[in-house]
This record gives sequence, C-alpha cells and structure tokens, in this order.
Amino acid sequence: MLDRPRELGALRRLLSRHRVVGIIGARQVGKTTLARMFAAGYRGQKSYYDLENPEDEARLSDPMLALKPRTGLVIIDEVQRHPGLFPVLRVLADRPRSPARFLLLGSASPDLLKQESETLAGRIIYHGLGGFSIEETGPDNYLQLWLRGGFPRSFVARSLADSNEWRRAFVRTFLERDLHQLGVEVGSATLRRFWTMLAHYHGQIWNASAFAGSFGVADTTVRRYLDLLTSAMVVRQLPPWHENVGKRQVKSPKVFIADSGLLHTLLNIPAQADLEGHPKLGASWEGFAVEQVTRRLGARSDECFHWATHAGAELDLLVVRGRHRLGFEIKRTSSPQVTRSMRIALADLHLSRLDVIHAGDETFPLDRRIRAVAMSRLIDDLQPLPR
Ligand SMILES: Nc1ncnc2c1ncn2[C@@H]1O[C@H](COP(=O)(O)OP(=O)(O)O)[C@@H](O)[C@H]1O
Ligand SMILES: [Mg+2]
Repeated sequence: MLDRPRELGALRRLLSRHRVVGIIGARQVGKTTLARMFAAGYRGQKSYYDLENPEDEARLSDPMLALKPRTGLVIIDEVQRHPGLFPVLRVLADRPRSPARFLLLGSASPDLLKQESETLAGRIIYHGLGGFSIEETGPDNYLQLWLRGGFPRSFVARSLADSNEWRRAFVRTFLERDLHQLGVEVGSATLRRFWTMLAHYHGQIWNASAFAGSFGVADTTVRRYLDLLTSAMVVRQLPPWHENVGKRQVKSPKVFIADSGLLHTLLNIPAQADLEGHPKLGASWEGFAVEQVTRRLGARSDECFHWATHAGAELDLLVVRGRHRLGFEIKRTSSPQVTRSMRIALADLHLSRLDVIHAGDETFPLDRRIRAVAMSRLIDDLQPLPR
C-alpha cells in the first residue's frame, strides 16, 4: 500500500471542523482505501456502511433509526446510491453537540446526485480525491506516473501490459456500467465516441460546435456530455479567467482527460516510445503538469483557471487564492525561455510569480518573478499554498 499522508491530513483537518465531509473521486481512485486508512488511525467509535453491499443497505433501510444512536466516526460508502440519506444526515448533523461525524464517499460530484443532496448544502464540505500524485509516488518515477496515470491499480500494476489492460477494462466498465448506475441515460457507444474525441482535443479550448457538428446533435447536447463526464470526475475543465484589461479574452474552458493514463488508453498510446512520437505529446505533458502542480499547491478546482486573449497572449494555468496569484506555463523542453506572452500575463494578471514547468533536471531563475521549474523537482521547489 502506498501511504497518502497528505490526504489523511486533509481529512483529519476537515473532520475536525465539519460534521459532514464528502470525499468525491472517480471510481477506483482509492476512496474506500483512504477512508479505511483513516478509520484505522481514528481513536473512538466508528461504523462503516457500504451501500453497494446489500447487507449494509438493509441495515440502513430505516436510516434515522440506524444512524441516530451512532457516535464517533460514521463512514457511508457509495453514498450516491441512496440520495434519500441526505435529508436524514441533515437532521443528524444539525443536532446541537452532534455526537457523530459523517464521512461520505461518492463516485460523482454532487451536481450529478439527485436533488436530495441539496438538502446538505452549507453543512457538508467536499474533498476531491485524485489518483496518486508525484508527492505520493516520489519524483524518481514520474515518467511512470505520467504514462500510466494515477489510478492506484494502473500505477502499481506489475507490468506495463497489465497496466494498459487494467485501464482498458476501466474504460469499458465505466461506460457500460458505472455511468448507467449514476443515472446517465446516454448510450455507452455515444459516450465512448465522445470521450475518445475529447481525448483528441485534450488541452484545447472547448469548442462545442466542432463536437456538435461531428455528432449531429445540438451544442447543448454535447455540452451535457462534457458536463456528465466532468461530474463523474474523468474529465477536467479548466475555466477561463477574465481580467479587466480592455482586451478580448477567451470565454470557454480548456478541457482535459482527468488522468494521463486514461488519456493514453483513449488515444491508444501503450508505451513511452509511442507517447514520445505522438502529436498529443505536448498536450499530454501539459495536462499531467496541470494536475501535478495543482495537487502540489493544494489548490481547489475553483481556484484554478486558464487565461487567453484573442490577440494571442495566454497562460496555461492561473491559481488564485487570496492575494496570491501564481501563473504557470508548461513546456515539454529542457531549455525553457521567456516569451512575450509570459511578460504580458505577468503584467496584465498582476502575477506574484510565473513558473515554467519543464522536462529538464534543474530549477533556475529566468527573469524577475519568472522561474524555470523542473518537473522532477516539483516537490522541492514548489510549496503548497498557505491556507
Ligand atoms: N494507497 C494505495 N496503495 C495501493 N493500492 C491502492 C491504494 N489505494 C487504492 N488502492 C487499490 O486501488 C483499487 C481501488 O481502490 P478503492 O479504495 O476501492 O477505490 P474507490 O473506493 O475509489 O473505488 C483497489 O484495488 C485498492 O487496493
Ligand atoms: Mg469504494
């Protein structure tokens, strides 16, 4: 088992401040394992219900009766299967001096859950869980993390062939079973075609009409597909940042396949050598770097943006927290250089700093407030954001 101290720390902190914490993450990303690791270190009463287990489901058939006497840590896994629980949890969480803390695990973001999840709004705090990060795997094998992606089973697979096979099976099961269980009614063949096409647009600005044209459906329909896969946490949208600078700016999100390993599966890139020669090499690197940088910073998804003007200036990643404004450019090279676009971003967006994440081995200054940061040194040279 790979230890995940930072995730455990985040959970400990959230549970000390909130009565209901939701961990949301794609299927197979490690939610149950993390919750069990957390429970193992938790001193006090604890109970665990897995709503995919018919026995546990039966134990919760009258949730108020079952949960009211519980004290300490109460974990409810696959909570999206039973949205009727949310109103009950609201009542329990609102008790004065509530004797219990609830840790809910779910495979979809709340906007995909039924209306009932609304009843917990304001009382629950969500923590997004991703696959392994460089910090967890160590920087030495980051190429393996890039190629295989961060799903634990894909990353730790004994051989590359096993890893590829695991990911192909994941894609199949996800399309044919998991989405259906989340109440998605779009056919699996349509969503496979959409997801695959999206992989070819990985790292680009979302263009609804290109997709709508190729699918022969309305713009709003392909937008719905995009939002579905985003809610199921297998696609990431980086929203556009807008600054009052008197320039026309791009207003669409950038889209990424959320895991580099899944990207490579969808693009049929089985090995590093195939990746090196592939036209999506730079885009794959960019998505991987965006993921690793935001993980390292501890940035929430609502703190991350891309920025682009119609005149051609752009910034791959902008992270905003309070007065901190960090810019990132991502280059698959070992000799990054300062560009005009970087200077414009630095000035227009009032960046505290701009880092160029690159594939070389060294971190070094490029200019005032501009650094070249090596991916292999990300953990040493990039500090988490202050909370
Ligand atoms: N930290 C870890 N180290 C090694 N393997 C892990 C780790 N976390 C999860 N796994 C493995 O990945 C698979 C999926 O994990 P699981 O916790 O069931 O994911 P989820 O609950 O998100 O679907 C399991 O086979 C599990 O053993
Ligand atoms: Mg699970």
